[in-house]
Amino acid sequence: MDRIYLGVFEMFGSPSARGVSAWAHPRSDLTRFHDIGHWVELAKTLDDAGFDWLFFADSFGYPTIGGEMVDAAARYGINFPLLDPQMLLPILAASTRDLGLVVTETTGLHHPFETARRFATLDHIAGGRLGMNVVTGSVQNVVADLFGHERMREHDLRYDMAQEYLDVARRYWEQSWDDGAVIADPTSPIYVDPAKLHRIEHDGTFYRSSGYLTVDPSPQRTPVIFQAGSSGRGKEFAAANADCVLLQSSAAEQMAANIADIRARAAAHGRDPRSVKVVATQSFFVAEDAEDARALQREFRDMQTVEVAAAMFVSNTGIDLLSLDPGKPLSQIPLDDVVGQMGQSNIDRFVGPDGAGPTVGEILEQLRVRGIRGSQIVGTPTAVADQIEEFLEATDLDGLMVDPLFGAEDVRDFARLVMPELRRRGRLGERGTQRTLRDQLFSEAPATIGTP
Ligand SMILES: Cc1cc2nc3c(=O)[nH]c(=O)nc-3n(C[C@H](O)[C@H](O)[C@H](O)COP(=O)(O)O)c2cc1C
Repeated sequence: MDRIYLGVFEMFGSPSARGVSAWAHPRSDLTRFHDIGHWVELAKTLDDAGFDWLFFADSFGYPTIGGEMVDAAARYGINFPLLDPQMLLPILAASTRDLGLVVTETTGLHHPFETARRFATLDHIAGGRLGMNVVTGSVQNVVADLFGHERMREHDLRYDMAQEYLDVARRYWEQSWDDGAVIADPTSPIYVDPAKLHRIEHDGTFYRSSGYLTVDPSPQRTPVIFQAGSSGRGKEFAAANADCVLLQSSAAEQMAANIADIRARAAAHGRDPRSVKVVATQSFFVAEDAEDARALQREFRDMQTVEVAAAMFVSNTGIDLLSLDPGKPLSQIPLDDVVGQMGQSNIDRFVGPDGAGPTVGEILEQLRVRGIRGSQIVGTPTAVADQIEEFLEATDLDGLMVDPLFGAEDVRDFARLVMPELRRRGRLGERGTQRTLRDQLFSEAPATIGTP
């Protein structure tokens, strides 16, 4: 039986994320994000329970319409405020032993050398447990304003830039230092053997860089690369570069087709399609008693509003659903130039072939109860474990990333109730191995990929 890989999705701030809002519920601790003790406690819980990684999403943008922040973003705390999760990593690394630590890096804003240096440093600090979620970035219209770009870079151009950016960073990580370059021998005394250093020269379309990586090789050299864009271009980028592809949960059939497409694209890049782990976010309402689990889901649903869902959707796509005719399918509505240049996946999801697909009103209602993430699994620990196994079997997913809707209590319940059941079924990995994240995810190191 295949092992199930498990992560947890978090943001450093943003009381309302993923198009839902539950921070005002008494169960929630989503406003405790300034408290470093909160994060240390959470990371330790994950480490002890045997989760494979803790994931931090990140974004520079907030929902806007016509260049102005929508009131709902501030009022409900939607991707706002959002602190820098890379700053959290060192303390979480020091508080944990096996847990992978995955953090998002938005491409197009930093020079690849600077990124190579920062992530090599973080991988040293994390003892080789670092993952890097490479995104071209949501809410690019805001990013353009904040960073003073003349205009928003187009969707596919951002991926072209991301490819070159990652290629340059990877060359610094993999080629600038030979193994064994650090001698550190006090008797010689030689610290680094200059013959084992190599100058990187890059003169490309978007970046120029030449010199040596100023950080010696970290345990993984290249962090485990995660990728989450699921537009056609996003999938192509993932197929060429990612060790682990993240998807948002959707109906099993749609997800199975999406995963088959990602694996086929990986094969077309000369990779073993099984060497790409595909993982989807998933929310849970779990309790010893099925009725308690359903009651929790009802309480959650009763709190949701179309304003929050619409604000999240506008920030992902540029489309203000509240301004459109609720009776029409999205595909029949003429959309302006910005749309489609921000994020594609959440549009594709609702645009069926031949102008079919749900109406704007139906989309809003779907988003209201589920956020941008799709399905929720509800029930007793055994029922939840059954549903997880069935879903993975039907879709060919390698694992799930728990998306806690109320906060840490959801993660603790999952760890306390569901993980022992999955462990009993032989579906979880060994604990306490103190391996690098790459070794934890791939018992054999995957073939080097995307080498420039
Ligand atoms: C699990 C998951 C996590 C994501 N995390 C981020 C993130 O941290 N920052 C971000 O800008 N986009 C993130 N995204 C991706 C965006 O939703 C969006 O798809 C992407 O930035 C636009 O690329 P696309 O058009 O190829 O989908 C995430 C998506 C998923 C499914």
